[in-house]
Amino acid sequence: MAKVTIIGATGQVGSYVAHAVSQFPHVQEMCLYGRPGNEQYLDGLAHDMMDSFAARGTNTRVTFGTTPKELRGSDIIVLTSGVPRKATQTRLDLALENARIVKVFAEQVGRMAPEAILLVVTNPVDIMTTVALKYSGMMPHRVFGLGTHLDSMRLKACLAEFFNVHVSEIHTRIIGEHGDTMVPMWSATTVGGIQIDNLLGVAKLPREEMIQRVKSSGSYIIEAKGATVYGPGDAIATLIRTIVEDENRMLTVATQIRREVFGHEGVCVSVPARITRGGVFPIGVKLSEEEEQMFAKSVKLIRDTTENVCA
Ligand code: LAC
Repeated sequence: MAKVTIIGATGQVGSYVAHAVSQFPHVQEMCLYGRPGNEQYLDGLAHDMMDSFAARGTNTRVTFGTTPKELRGSDIIVLTSGVPRKATQTRLDLALENARIVKVFAEQVGRMAPEAILLVVTNPVDIMTTVALKYSGMMPHRVFGLGTHLDSMRLKACLAEFFNVHVSEIHTRIIGEHGDTMVPMWSATTVGGIQIDNLLGVAKLPREEMIQRVKSSGSYIIEAKGATVYGPGDAIATLIRTIVEDENRMLTVATQIRREVFGHEGVCVSVPARITRGGVFPIGVKLSEEEEQMFAKSVKLIRDTTENVCA
């Protein structure tokens, strides 16, 4: 059984995740955590969710609070707090401002729940994962970021549409930055288990156009409706389910990489990783030459910004 705590539960992504995750059988307690001053809102949110759980027959206990002691006993903590991105901003524009917010909560988590697994959602997520790792003082396999998991899912949807198959037939990975330098791993993209380059229809695949669509998807949605909510929300919910149900799935998330395995180190960046109840374990992969070069660029950008932010 697990206690899941959502830091930033008053936000749109935070409250959606809290609601979505509470349906998983092993989630026994859902703690809605926010900043001091938000007690009334959180109380209302908790009551609204209790009604929802009663209506759908879910047995999850809902708690809420604004003081660090609420974090105690958490098995998984999701950090969603931060200044949201405007359509005209890149995720990197938010770095300094959000690093200050992430630092405060990461210190609280490190003090109150050092045995928990901390999932960072705040953007720019790769950099914020390093900030959270640093200030929580937790083990690297216990702090990870949403990273390119959502981008991989967006590409998966585009490919399913193009090849006219069910999304479950597609396997693909985007690694690197959750941002403009993301790296599609075409070498690891299969349809029905068949590597795409072995499919006769692949010649017409508009790879560049698809990647552009994935890259601009977040800003497109922000411009149209103010924020991305359901996409990141369900991507986060899948990651939490994988942990609480100990599914041992391999997904692409932001995690600290080591030189011996990835040729680079000192940053958190998305790579394929095994995700279990024990934490997140990156998997070494062989990249094509082009992927390798693109990945190095992505790592450099993240490293430069991380050094500025953590200086
Ligand atoms: C997005 C946010 C999570 O891409 O960055 O929707």
